[in-house]
Amino acid sequence: MAYLLAIESSCDETAAAVIDRERRVLSNVVASQDSLHQRFGGVVPEIASRAHVENILPVIDAALREAEVALCDVAAIAVASEPGLVGSLLVGLTAAKTLAWVLDKPLIPVNHVHAHLYACRLAAGTEIFPAVGLVVSGGHTNLYDCRSLAEFQLLGTTIDDAAGEAFDKVAGILELGYPGGPAVEQAARNGREDAIRFPRPMIHSDRLEFSFSGLKTAVLYEVKGRPGDDRPTPAMTEQRRADVAAGFQEAVVDVLAAKCRQALRRCNRSTLLVGGGVAANRRLREKLGAAVDSIGAEVHFAPGEYCTDNAAMAAIAWEALERGQAGSLDMDVTPGLIRMP
Ligand code: KG4
Ligand code: ZN
Repeated sequence: MAYLLAIESSCDETAAAVIDRERRVLSNVVASQDSLHQRFGGVVPEIASRAHVENILPVIDAALREAEVALCDVAAIAVASEPGLVGSLLVGLTAAKTLAWVLDKPLIPVNHVHAHLYACRLAAGTEIFPAVGLVVSGGHTNLYDCRSLAEFQLLGTTIDDAAGEAFDKVAGILELGYPGGPAVEQAARNGREDAIRFPRPMIHSDRLEFSFSGLKTAVLYEVKGRPGDDRPTPAMTEQRRADVAAGFQEAVVDVLAAKCRQALRRCNRSTLLVGGGVAANRRLREKLGAAVDSIGAEVHFAPGEYCTDNAAMAAIAWEALERGQAGSLDMDVTPGLIRMP
């Protein structure tokens, strides 16, 4: 049997996974750093890289042990090499290069954002391309036309905050803790999505771009009051907190659903793939499902456990390996997102 050992350290999760040629995930180990970044309300890059250094070897070890796979049975090493925090990416890449060199096995670089979409393939268990892909995470809100596994054309991205980042910031405003997405979703369950109507930025624009910064400010003004407006703001009761969370979530979901429909039509595709941390959101799943259904298309979501950062989704490296494509030991990380023309 041939196995892929995949390593992920692009942001604040140190992860390793073992995946066989049939794309079965034999192990998926994730060491979260949430508790380290919590008190700062966001990821601190220097702390993240240091924690990766501490976690990387135990995590790789655990992934191999859980899969009951020996290093000598590993066919290739896959590693997220772009995009992400430079210091974080370098820890994973250095570990992967060392293993590839010692074992004399191919090193396969993985684009972390493409891998978020490939997580949908792990659930579908079958070919899912061509498709339109939406990656919604803490760092990205990207729409792609995925012609094939090797061709991801970026259609549009956010011009300011990512969707997950907006969830995290709104959770901060509502004092719901970090990471904010799951907390906002939880609070929204008891809220009325139409109690407070928040703006839906760019929903009527024909550009496939997003903007969540103004929406976040609208939530801030709703909760703390507008600068220069001396009228008192309503008291922050549990119900009001739930209503703000539900109204905000509804606005984000409406924009994402509208843009996905627009992209499917424009690219003439009938399949939508959705990955990234925010793809775990149930309201997003419900509304995207309905939106896609209304135009006769179908949607594949990444399975819940592969929505937030993980190494199992780096199974996309099998596709490169089967095409005979590999990286070299002198390759480097690419922290920024490469924009297609
Ligand atoms: O994919 P991910 O782990 O990291 C990046 O690549 O950025 O996504 C993390 C993001 C965070 O912003 C988190 O708040 C958000 O995904 N998130 C959610 C939910 N679960 C995680 N947002 C909304 N609803 C959720 N259930
Ligand atoms: Zn990610």
